[in-house]
Amino acid sequence: MDQKTDDRTLSPGLEGVLAGETAIAKVDGLNGKLTYRGYPIGDLVRHGTYAQVADLLWTGEWAPSADLPCAPLTDGVIKSLRALPPGTNAMDALRGAVSAWGAAERPTWPPTPEQARALTAIAPSSLAAFVRIQRGDEPIDPDPSLPLSAGFLYQLNGKRPDAASARALDAYFIVAAEHGFNASTFTARVITSTQSDLASALCGAIGALKGPLHGGAPSEVVSQLHEIGSPERAEKWINDALDRGDRLMGFGHRVYRAYDPRAAALREVAEGMAGTAEWLKLAVAVEDVALRVLKERHPERPLQTNVEFYTAAVLQGVGLPPAIFPATFALARHAGWTAHCIEQGQANRLIRPDVRYVGPAERALPA
Ligand code: SDX
Repeated sequence: MDQKTDDRTLSPGLEGVLAGETAIAKVDGLNGKLTYRGYPIGDLVRHGTYAQVADLLWTGEWAPSADLPCAPLTDGVIKSLRALPPGTNAMDALRGAVSAWGAAERPTWPPTPEQARALTAIAPSSLAAFVRIQRGDEPIDPDPSLPLSAGFLYQLNGKRPDAASARALDAYFIVAAEHGFNASTFTARVITSTQSDLASALCGAIGALKGPLHGGAPSEVVSQLHEIGSPERAEKWINDALDRGDRLMGFGHRVYRAYDPRAAALREVAEGMAGTAEWLKLAVAVEDVALRVLKERHPERPLQTNVEFYTAAVLQGVGLPPAIFPATFALARHAGWTAHCIEQGQANRLIRPDVRYVGPAERALPA
């Protein structure tokens, strides 16, 4: 088929293309609903733990006794972190740690829940060790009595987190754990579909999540709110930014045409945290102006708040530096990524879409 006779519809960015089926999460973009294996995200945040949710994503069943502590790092992973230059991006460090884990563990295809659990459990230990090494401190071994999110804060700060911070971060991990065929998850499925291993799939996923259009947004939300500084400055700052063609970080979504239910869940979490009142006051004021201005400028396209906007409030509230917000998102998303790799391996078909050739017609090489 050549360009002239090829009447197939092209969807840039695969927008609206049905690329597969999944039983893991339902992302209802029109109504702003999200369920994991049929359970609404709000119920999971209010009544569940990240360990239970990760197990649900991997196995499809709810196990009240599920637990998931951080795992200790092998020397190889620690060596990979110590070799990194000062100022290394935390996503590059995490990608390197996962690669070092894969080189040592050599996970075989197809991916399994055991591999998923092992990789999800070393990720927080890797990120915490990276941050400590970069600031000249020694890594701290995990405390097996702590759940993964609290264990991450312990390994990062050297002390057990207070109950409110532990609860807030666990809620964030649940909210960020899974979201259908987003760019990084689809990347992981493509790599798994070639019968490559789970570590390689997650290295690709981390690379995809690093981009500011995807997981890189929450730290940009912090910079934007710092630049705006006060509710009174929001209107002018937002209009100037949009006039420059800049994107407002934390708004818009390829699937959600309604308010992202995760943003609502995280706003509720942030409102229950100490020390976030001032920040939330600014965030809510900026959100109101942004939604109104975006609606005025794009009446044809509803641009709502997405998960990243209130992510900044929660992660700042538990004391994490904005530089590691994307990598913290990656820690949480390990559960969803690995669940999709397991699902891909269960009914695999090599993912290889078609493409329309629009280059030069066949021609002879110059003499
Ligand atoms: C995540 O897919 C997932 O599920 C992802 C995620 C997950 O859990 O895995 O939900 C996580 O990635 C959340 C999104 C985080 N990113 C941001 O907050 C960055 C800012 N948002 C955007 O850049 C944008 O909204 C995207 C990338 C999220 C979605 O982009 P689309 O679907 O490709 O939409 P588009 O770029 O075609 O935008 C349509 C129009 C454009 O107008 P034109 O340029 O064609 O005139 O809406 C405008 C855009 O300019 N627009 C925005 C905007 N988002 C879209 N204008 C200003 N600010 C924005 N944030």
